[in-house]
Amino acid sequence: MVHVLAVADENELYDNPVEFPQVDILFSCGDLSPHYLGYLSDKYMPAIRIMVHGNHDGQYFEVGEEPINLGFSEKYHGMFSIVRGIHVLSKEEHPFLDDDLSICGFSGISAHGDPPFYFSDYSLFRFKTDLFVKKYLSPFSGVDIMLTHAPPDLGLISYGGGDHQPSRKIAALRRYLDPKLWLYGHIHRRYTDKPLDFLVDDGAPLNLINACPYKYFSFDQRTGRVKFMEAIS
Ligand SMILES: [Fe+2]
Repeated sequence: MVHVLAVADENELYDNPVEFPQVDILFSCGDLSPHYLGYLSDKYMPAIRIMVHGNHDGQYFEVGEEPINLGFSEKYHGMFSIVRGIHVLSKEEHPFLDDDLSICGFSGISAHGDPPFYFSDYSLFRFKTDLFVKKYLSPFSGVDIMLTHAPPDLGLISYGGGDHQPSRKIAALRRYLDPKLWLYGHIHRRYTDKPLDFLVDDGAPLNLINACPYKYFSFDQRTGRVKFMEAIS
């Protein structure tokens, strides 16, 4: 069982700080500043810190400079940055894990703009092709957790509008990756009063959680069960 803090889009925990009893993993689903993620890392001391980028993160990079893929970010100190790819955390390196933990990240939203803060149909097609080859030519059976900035259209989120429309294109990755848990950002809680979080325990086909502004929960690696937890204050 790991304790997860997932964040995206808004600096809520900076503006209204709270305490959590234990944070093993910090996941950022994008559109947050290096300063804010540094603040969270210093405050909660998570052993594992992983991020994908949102569509607004280009402001932290010089023109022509791109975030590192599958490595520690040069802009977001201490954060492991995934542009698009799969990162496996080993139990050997992180003894508090119950098993190895595999995470797929895919940054950006589907719209016209600079990659990887925006992604094209072609880049998604190439990624899917790589996954197809991996899935059908190797024992690869998928990942535990999916991290995206874009909300996937899995028929669950009923909010949609403009650039914030859940994406069918990115939802297609589920077929190759079969995650137990999918964390996304981009849709701010204030945009809608419709549900944005869906749990298997409540009958959903997978755990789909909006990380904006933050969610704190336990994740059972073996069963895939997610349980929302309260902050201390
Ligand atoms: Fe966004």
